[in-house]
Amino acid sequence: MTFPTHRPRRLRRNELIRSMVRETRLSTDALIYPMFVCPGEKVRIEVGSMPGIHQQSVDQIVEECREVEQLGVPAVILFGLPEQKDERGTEAAAAHGAVQRAIAAIRRAQLKLLVVTDVCLCEYTSHGHCGVVQEGAILNDPTLEILAEAALSHARAGADIVAPSDMMDGRVGAIRRKLDQHGFAPVAILAYAAKYCSGFYGPFREAAQSAPQFGDRRSYQMDPANAREALKEVALDLDEGADMVMVKPALPYLDIIRAVRERFDVPVAAYNVSGEYAMVKAAARNGWVDEQRVVLEILTGIKRAGADIVLTYHAKDVARWLKVC
Ligand code: PBG
Repeated sequence: MTFPTHRPRRLRRNELIRSMVRETRLSTDALIYPMFVCPGEKVRIEVGSMPGIHQQSVDQIVEECREVEQLGVPAVILFGLPEQKDERGTEAAAAHGAVQRAIAAIRRAQLKLLVVTDVCLCEYTSHGHCGVVQEGAILNDPTLEILAEAALSHARAGADIVAPSDMMDGRVGAIRRKLDQHGFAPVAILAYAAKYCSGFYGPFREAAQSAPQFGDRRSYQMDPANAREALKEVALDLDEGADMVMVKPALPYLDIIRAVRERFDVPVAAYNVSGEYAMVKAAARNGWVDEQRVVLEILTGIKRAGADIVLTYHAKDVARWLKVC
């Protein structure tokens, strides 16, 4: 039985019927908005390659968080810029670091927002790598304690969720143990489980001033050619105590999002990263694509692939658009 009995266009005749049979729906309640916190006061510097995204001091962060809350976006993820970088990324765990102060300030403002923090060293190390370096090698085990201390400092400041993005082996377990030892059992871990070594992080490294000063991240972030290995990474992170897992970047890895969704019964997040954002912004500015249309299409695609949660720099715009749609 085929045409003319079957006419798929019947279910596309008008918006009411299209909406009734729509399989994937975008909503604001699973969006996380990334923000960059820097030292100082009244600082708000736009990132050149990421129009609309700023490096901001704590006071400005709180103001933008009010806006985020009002738009109905439920969560922010904070990245920090230190006062001072050093070999070991010491400031990542400083009680009065920019991120730690921002978390506390958001809590004080009593905003209805989940505060997620990125746990990594690359913004804090002088060499820009995500771990301790010795003779050009990125050391795994000595890095774990520093990461765990950083996560603990975020929990102490009031973070709801910590998200390790360094890709050292064993860091989820190290962080879970540290949090539990200090009475932070309720703090959840969102593991950047399948994080690929990607060219799409370029603009972020400008925003976070975190480009590696020598070499690249291929000895710890995943090879873009590998899919099965992503499932192994996810399984390990879940064994170590991750509550939720992330695939990153999103667009070139939709197959990975789908595979993780099918294999594991935990919330899956996808990070629509800085390079993906910058490409859309650049094309839209040139009038080459309709920004609203392509952003909604991209996010729908990421959700259709199986993501429950999407981290995206478009979050505020999407919330505005969904309100009027
Ligand atoms: C830190 C980190 C990076 C991103 C999130 N956490 C950069 C990197 O690994 O180099 C990238 C986010 C983005 O591109 O939007 N390790």
